[in-house]
Amino acid sequence: MRPLNGVAILSLFLTAVRGTSILFRGGTIIAFNKATQGLRVIRDGSVLVENDRITGVFETATPNTRVPTGTEVVDATGKIITPGFIDTHRHGWQTVFKTMASNTTLIEFFGRYSSFVAPFFWNATDIYDSQLAGLYEALNAGVTSSLDHATHTWSRDAADAGLQACIDSGARVFWGFTFANITGLITVEQLYPVFRDMAAKVALAKSPTTLAIAYDGPWGPGANIGEINKIMALANQVKVSAITTHSLQGPWGFTNSPEEIHALGYLNISIPIIFSHASFLTQAGADLLRSTNQYISITPESEMHYGQGHPVSYSIQDQASLGIDTHITFSTDILTQARIWMQQTRYERYLAVLKQNKLPGSNPMSVEQAFLLATRHGALALRRDDLGAIFVGAKADLVVWDGTAPPLLGWVDPVAAVMLHASVGDIEAVLVDGKWAKRGGKLVGRGYPEARARFLRTARRLQEVWRGMPLPVPPPDFNGNPVVDPERVDVLRGPGNGYGNIYI
Ligand SMILES: *[C@@H]1O[C@H](CO)[C@@H](O)[C@H](O)[C@H]1NC(C)=O
Ligand SMILES: *[C@@H]1O[C@H](CO)[C@@H](O)[C@H](O)[C@H]1NC(C)=O
Ligand SMILES: *[C@@H]1O[C@H](CO)[C@@H](O)[C@H](O)[C@H]1NC(C)=O
Ligand SMILES: *[C@@H]1O[C@H](CO)[C@@H](O)[C@H](O)[C@H]1NC(C)=O
Ligand SMILES: [Zn+2]
Repeated sequence: MRPLNGVAILSLFLTAVRGTSILFRGGTIIAFNKATQGLRVIRDGSVLVENDRITGVFETATPNTRVPTGTEVVDATGKIITPGFIDTHRHGWQTVFKTMASNTTLIEFFGRYSSFVAPFFWNATDIYDSQLAGLYEALNAGVTSSLDHATHTWSRDAADAGLQACIDSGARVFWGFTFANITGLITVEQLYPVFRDMAAKVALAKSPTTLAIAYDGPWGPGANIGEINKIMALANQVKVSAITTHSLQGPWGFTNSPEEIHALGYLNISIPIIFSHASFLTQAGADLLRSTNQYISITPESEMHYGQGHPVSYSIQDQASLGIDTHITFSTDILTQARIWMQQTRYERYLAVLKQNKLPGSNPMSVEQAFLLATRHGALALRRDDLGAIFVGAKADLVVWDGTAPPLLGWVDPVAAVMLHASVGDIEAVLVDGKWAKRGGKLVGRGYPEARARFLRTARRLQEVWRGMPLPVPPPDFNGNPVVDPERVDVLRGPGNGYGNIYI
């Protein structure tokens, strides 16, 4: 078989196929064992994809059953095949701001980059371009599913543009229509009909994208019960795929905890509810998550970057998935999140030992656990048994890694190879719903070249606007707590400003 654009392709038949059918042959497959809920590594195996589903997972390079006529055979020798990553917290529309907020604080972010500022400068085309570019970026990194806390629903046009971008991207987006008042622009009351229109959008039905709801309440003190009842009634009528809320307890004072939602009777429901960050989750909250089978989204890099913190998240990983949050300020890929998270978990657990003047005798977290968090747990959080895993009947959301790339060369354990050695640059191919999103190391979306050009024009124009905006002065307090400067580090010898510059 002759390598072609990095992926060796052998077309056995020239006849046109009804639907698509692809056989990945001879690769190492990180499949799923439903009985143990753990991984099942198959070496020199094959995976058959028909239309949107995985229809065969074989222990041999040549399947022992007949494959459909016209099946495209892809030589996967030397490759590692994994399920796509699942990101359970993202704000995809903001791509335009990339690299402009590298040292921002969360409080500054609200006042400068959020949906409370942007609508006065962005139109619907900008939302479309920025959301689409963000999704291509995610697909390139093997993120096939994401739960988007879509705060850009400040007008019908803006909402529609963002949703259309999700559909056009081919990604599997759980698009969380946000119910929020934007002062001077729109109220939650005015958003109900907009939400209904989005639910009725015809193109949605034929797409892997589904409608979800994002609502930051408050669900606790100050909650508007009438508003919550209306939103939950809509969630049920429309059968949304998920509900999500930011939950930042402790000093952040942005509670939205499992306890609060449970007190309103809305936690133990059939719709999945995802708590983003869940920083400072209480024991009672953790117990409730377990008893109602609801999940949190740990966004490791975000929680480090902004200081939302995750002091207790190590102990609730059985009800946890991984998310990105603001991909404008750091990595867009779940691989990086899983790696950072695993190593930080190890670090914290080791530190607890070191603080007693003792030494660690075993390793507290395995690569298999990190892998499951990055893939299957996202599916569990979204209550989608058909995602985040390779087994017969699952959706064909797949990532093909080049196992012969320099960082991977010589690997023995494919899970360790991906979790600790690979980068997204080693992702050769990505499939969503059985369709190629990336192939031969390149995005293959039909609209990608044009989307890239459009995005650049939009980004340059909006970046110029933000460049001219004075930086906000931090408020003396936020949600009742004082705002203070953390101790800055200095990487230069001697006195002076070791902080350096921000090059925007
Ligand atoms: C948004 O603004 C850009 C730049 O001015 C313009 O090209 C585009 O047509 C506008 N889109 C809408 C929907 O008004
Ligand atoms: C939106 O504004 C209305 C009217 O002031 C208020 O009753 C409601 O609680 C607000 N909702 C949110 C989510 O802020
Ligand atoms: C949630 O519902 C399940 C099934 O009805 C029940 O077993 C469980 O105790 C409930 N949990 C809470 C916290 O209400
Ligand atoms: C980010 O760095 C710039 C200096 O380059 C500084 O003016 C600004 O205050 C910093 N922002 C924050 C939030 O620390
Ligand atoms: Zn967020």
